[in-house]
Amino acid sequence: MENRAAILGTGKSVQGRAITNQDLEKMVDTSDEWITARSGIKIRYFTDDQTAASDLATEAGRQALEMAGVDGADVDLFIVGTVTPDFAYPATACLVQHNLGNKKGAGFDQETGCSGFLYGLTIGEQFIKTGKCRYVLAIGVECLSKVMNMQDRGTCVLFGDGAGAALLGPSPDGKSGILDTFIKSDGSLGDLLKQPAGGSRMPASIETVTNNLHTIHMKGNKVFPLAVRCMEEAATTLMNRLGLTGEDLDVLITHQANLRIIQSLQKRLQVPDDKVFVNIDKYGNTSAASIPIAMDEAVRQGIIKKGNLVMLASFGAGFTWASAAIRW
Ligand code: ACO
Repeated sequence: MENRAAILGTGKSVQGRAITNQDLEKMVDTSDEWITARSGIKIRYFTDDQTAASDLATEAGRQALEMAGVDGADVDLFIVGTVTPDFAYPATACLVQHNLGNKKGAGFDQETGCSGFLYGLTIGEQFIKTGKCRYVLAIGVECLSKVMNMQDRGTCVLFGDGAGAALLGPSPDGKSGILDTFIKSDGSLGDLLKQPAGGSRMPASIETVTNNLHTIHMKGNKVFPLAVRCMEEAATTLMNRLGLTGEDLDVLITHQANLRIIQSLQKRLQVPDDKVFVNIDKYGNTSAASIPIAMDEAVRQGIIKKGNLVMLASFGAGFTWASAAIRW
């Protein structure tokens, strides 16, 4: 018999310096007006030189465990979605496992871009359903400020650092919890959003550093329509499977990449304004962390309540896209 998986606790960590649009005006040829109108972003956070992904991920995970009342030592599986791990290896998930005092579980990272949290949630759900694991900590974390070209105004105004986490475990009543998930990818357009150097295709060299090839390279206006279409596919697939319309959703949380993307998706899914949670103005695009950060805020602010139907949808580098429908 399958066990239904549920989110038992959530957490987030956003640390470092708050960077306003006015701060960026002093660094590149941009304006608060352009950034606000084109993206909806006002502030983002950049971590300091001493802070790395595992630090943020550990704090977000600790909060999720605390909300659930579960000890870090009892987690069976740690899954971290990130494209900015502490190191190429060891995996950030193993560092988080150690930081949370765990010896019994397993841990691994996956690099599915901004879909990193929902891919982790989907994998974790499977382990709980089959009974292989009781508790899975799914985390999305990024320190994107460390891989940004601060001379490229097309990307450096968009991204920020942060982490969000969810502790998954068996549904307390067998009914609430993750109703369904969806994941998909398409590598044919992967060149539109990539970090070219540092892997085995283009190892680090003086030239790669000089030419800024260890930073985010994105053709934003080409990515934009894909993000809308793919997240629409992800959300409608689950709505069709579950026999739902946009009106049935209590809370919609999409990847926080651009306010115009969120609004366009909301319109296509016919979800009213008051059901859409948005915090991109406060954090910018935190990639894999954006959905769990938003979810944690919505839970702690009482916007997501017990019994609510919540839809999560993401899109990111790869390209990858994903969704999850959850009865809270
Ligand atoms: N300040 C001022 N002007 C700028 C800036 C800036 N920061 N950045 C670009 N411009 C200029 C461009 O040079 C261009 O000028 P031109 O017309 O003279 O050539 C003009 O603004 C328009 O540029 P576009 O790129 O066409 O602007 P657009 O409306 O598409 O907005 C943006 C750009 C915000 C990047 C948008 O395309 C976007 O959000 N794309 C999606 C990104 C995304 O979803 N990523 C998510 C998935 S993956 C992930 O999150 C890691």
